[in-house]
Amino acid sequence: MFGKRTVPPDPASATMPWSPRLPESVPPEARAPEGRPAKPTHKAAKGAAGAPTKGSELDQRLQAVKIAVFNDLIDSVDLTELGKLDIAAVREEISDIVSEIISMRSMVLSAVEQSLVINDICNDVLGLGPLEPLLARDDIADIMVNGADEVYIETNGRIERTDIRFRDNAQLMNICQRIVSAVGRRVDEASPICDARLADGSRVNVIAPPLAIDGPALTIRKFKRDKLTLDKLVGFGTISPKGARLLQVIGAARLNVIVSGGTGSGKTTLLNCLTSYIDKGERVITCEDAAELQLQQPHVVRLETRPPNLEGVGAVTMRDLVRNCLRMRPERIIVGEVRGAEAFDLLQAMNTGHDGSMGTVHANNPRECISRIENMIAMGGYTLPAKTVREQMAASIQIIIQAARLRDGSRKITHITEVVGMEGEVVTLQDLYVFQLEGEDGQGRIQGRHVPTGLRPKFWDRAKYFGLERDLAEALDEAP
Ligand SMILES: Nc1ncnc2c1ncn2[C@@H]1O[C@H](COP(=O)(O)OP(=O)(O)O)[C@@H](O)[C@H]1O
Ligand SMILES: [Mg+2]
Repeated sequence: MFGKRTVPPDPASATMPWSPRLPESVPPEARAPEGRPAKPTHKAAKGAAGAPTKGSELDQRLQAVKIAVFNDLIDSVDLTELGKLDIAAVREEISDIVSEIISMRSMVLSAVEQSLVINDICNDVLGLGPLEPLLARDDIADIMVNGADEVYIETNGRIERTDIRFRDNAQLMNICQRIVSAVGRRVDEASPICDARLADGSRVNVIAPPLAIDGPALTIRKFKRDKLTLDKLVGFGTISPKGARLLQVIGAARLNVIVSGGTGSGKTTLLNCLTSYIDKGERVITCEDAAELQLQQPHVVRLETRPPNLEGVGAVTMRDLVRNCLRMRPERIIVGEVRGAEAFDLLQAMNTGHDGSMGTVHANNPRECISRIENMIAMGGYTLPAKTVREQMAASIQIIIQAARLRDGSRKITHITEVVGMEGEVVTLQDLYVFQLEGEDGQGRIQGRHVPTGLRPKFWDRAKYFGLERDLAEALDEAP
């Protein structure tokens, strides 16, 4: 990411620093220091893409200082070496060097101006320019950049547009490049799609022109350090206390679970919560595209897929991981996102002694989840009769937990559904818990209740075997 040789920082982006106007909601500590040059208007930025924007005397003087300091900096520091330090240390180091350069060149700057210059240079050299203040905020779940002029964020389930802009698409592209070079990738016209990860674990997707028509689209799913717990989900109304109890039983009784839901519906969060009910003594292996799960167990092996390198070779797929995982004597296998042929391997694992395995699938309801998995297996090149595949699913998957992000931005578990078996050619499902929609309150927030359906789970005896019969009975008790 900091590599001088892989992707040299674009001096142009240091010469014309961005100056975001932050929305009112930005906490003071994330704001730029007072005296930051005013952001050019939307029109001006568009009209003069790439050309210096006219500013006050001070702006131009500071910009000149920045250019000079930046050039000195590149000459004097090996950014690759710096990249080995952690980000705070790098910032400190750069600040020191920049202060030194400023005093060596006998530049006259006030303390405020100096910190302004240092900040901007740090952001341009090391950081992600205009995105830095957003990355510093803990309340943001996603950052979505649609070309240089549009930056959206998601907080508390709501998407809003920010006033932050990039100087132009070239600066944005440069930042995208810097992000993906950290995982040894390149993004350009020839390979315009790329997944990467920030140093803090945040997941990044870049899709560049010509595929993205209005400029590079950058999407960042921010990594949350303090993961949500089931208790917190209850607090948010994502699930009722009794529903949460049912989830605990499901996790502890080693049922095979698929968490189903749309993008951002809270699948990974839920999966992570469920893993906290895994017995401490179990050997758990996780397979993910980009490690997000934070298991609290002592005995966990974390595996991660790898995209192909620049020559298009060396990819390690999810399927490779799941298959390898079976040779590692796992007791449970957890697949972050089941998307393709690995579905078949996971089902087999679930069915051959690795009970309590889990995964997430992108689907809008439990029934669709089943057909999605069937499709993944069919597309994976298995020429099995549909009925065989369905039997395999019915025998392997015991629970589907459906997560959803409702139109008010709240996340709910809408179904806890049991896979019961087969009826003819069809996989039969029964809902154990559902979210009943009751309407909206004055603020447009969705109202409803989680209710048990009154059906007796097929896994009752299993829960009993694990000493969880009472918990199960209480979880399913219809009295609120
Ligand atoms: N029940 C919830 N209530 C509020 N926020 C949630 C909830 N579940 C997840 N989130 C937040 O929503 C974002 C997306 O969650 P994630 O679990 O990664 O979704 P998915 O895996 O379905 O894409 C994260 O920032 C997460 O912290
Ligand atoms: Mg996820």
